[in-house]
Amino acid sequence: MTRPEPEVRVLADAQSLADAAALALLNRLASDQAAGGTPHVGLTGGSIARTFHRSVLAQSGDVDVDWSRVDVWWGDERFVAATDPERNALQAREDLVDAVALDPARIHEAPAAEAGLSVEDAAAAYAEELRTHGAGSFSVLLLGLGPDGHVASLFPEHPALEVDGVPAVAVRDSPKPPPLRISLTLEALNRADAVWFLVSGEDKAEALRAALTDGPVPQIPARGVRGTVETVVFTDEAAAGLLDR
Ligand code: 6PG
Repeated sequence: MTRPEPEVRVLADAQSLADAAALALLNRLASDQAAGGTPHVGLTGGSIARTFHRSVLAQSGDVDVDWSRVDVWWGDERFVAATDPERNALQAREDLVDAVALDPARIHEAPAAEAGLSVEDAAAAYAEELRTHGAGSFSVLLLGLGPDGHVASLFPEHPALEVDGVPAVAVRDSPKPPPLRISLTLEALNRADAVWFLVSGEDKAEALRAALTDGPVPQIPARGVRGTVETVVFTDEAAAGLLDR
């Protein structure tokens, strides 16, 4: 199945791109629900994600979303204690998830590090959660982009990139700290109607250029993720500096 080419939306700066993506998400959730759906959203970690989450909350009063009928997942998670500030879910809860009326049973966090639990056990548990409570695809999957072209916690030339047949994988030796992570696999990331990249800052310009043009997937994992219905890149002028426009 060929998937549509990415659409690039260039905004002036990080806040503008976060605001545009946030309003787009709110409208997508509302339209999915108006069509009778219960949208499953995959959130991402990273700094632009925090700006995005805060903007979703700030604009949430402008769009009629029934938050009790939204399922929230994470494309990746750091394998740290639940209370560790590095945890993607903790950051998202602070910025959005605990401030809207989500059904707690529809908030699907990857297991946190705790005594006796290996990162492999945690990844297997998250994979089972996806099989049991997942919708088979995400309505919208948000992804950041690393300066090395990584998405979620799938890093260039890392063995986790090659894992298939399971929706989640343990990542050891992450080049981006912390070193232990859980990530959706490429095949799971590609089970998304809409993939929306959030890409801000000059340090992402080369990765974004490669991700949209010629990078082989092992070297530019972002090349390997596209939505079945759409892929949209919300970016800013600084990160779009190397794109042909
Ligand atoms: C993580 C993220 C990771 C992130 C990118 C971009 O857990 O670290 O999921 O994939 O999205 O590294 O992060 P920044 O937006 O902070 O550059």
